[in-house]
Amino acid sequence: MIEDIYKRMNEEASKIFKERKVVFGEGNTGAEIMLIGEAPGGEEEKQGHPFVGSAGKNLNGFLEILELKREDIFLSNVVKIRPFKINEKTGRKVNRPPDKSEIDFFKPFLIEEIKEVSPKLIVTLGNTALRAVTDDKSALIGDFHGKVTETKQGKLFALYHPASIIYNVKLKDTYNSDLQILKGILKN
Ligand code: URA
Repeated sequence: MIEDIYKRMNEEASKIFKERKVVFGEGNTGAEIMLIGEAPGGEEEKQGHPFVGSAGKNLNGFLEILELKREDIFLSNVVKIRPFKINEKTGRKVNRPPDKSEIDFFKPFLIEEIKEVSPKLIVTLGNTALRAVTDDKSALIGDFHGKVTETKQGKLFALYHPASIIYNVKLKDTYNSDLQILKGILKN
């Protein structure tokens, strides 16, 4: 049961990451597609759900193109706490990429989640998720995106992280054409 995995993860995480809120994966545990992001951001931490706020908007666009509903998939992140740093000027929390200790802690739980959901296709967003699923710390999204790769965890389709394409028109085109490839794969 996914709940058992999360219970154990939560107990272990509370020892190491103390007061930090843990954002679990959610969705259809019998889904054919499991979407894996990097880590929750501020809005996810606040609401306690993955892919809400601006990442949620990206997710909705993704689902619309693929003609899927949120309930059709299982959503998770490699790291389940919000990685943040304090902006020196404003004193406010800002997101940062997860560090090695965070990834190393959460990755075994992600592998358990994948086994539990056992999706036909794992879709990763960005390098952190790609590296966790391929178990290759130097894997690069540029080499993996837009095609199916066989991994120990099952079939993987890697996408650029939607946050990374916002200011890059070329990458945005690549992301959109990758989504069309994915749509074709899902239709077959
Ligand atoms: N929100 C998430 O839950 N995951 C991401 O990777 C980015 C934003």
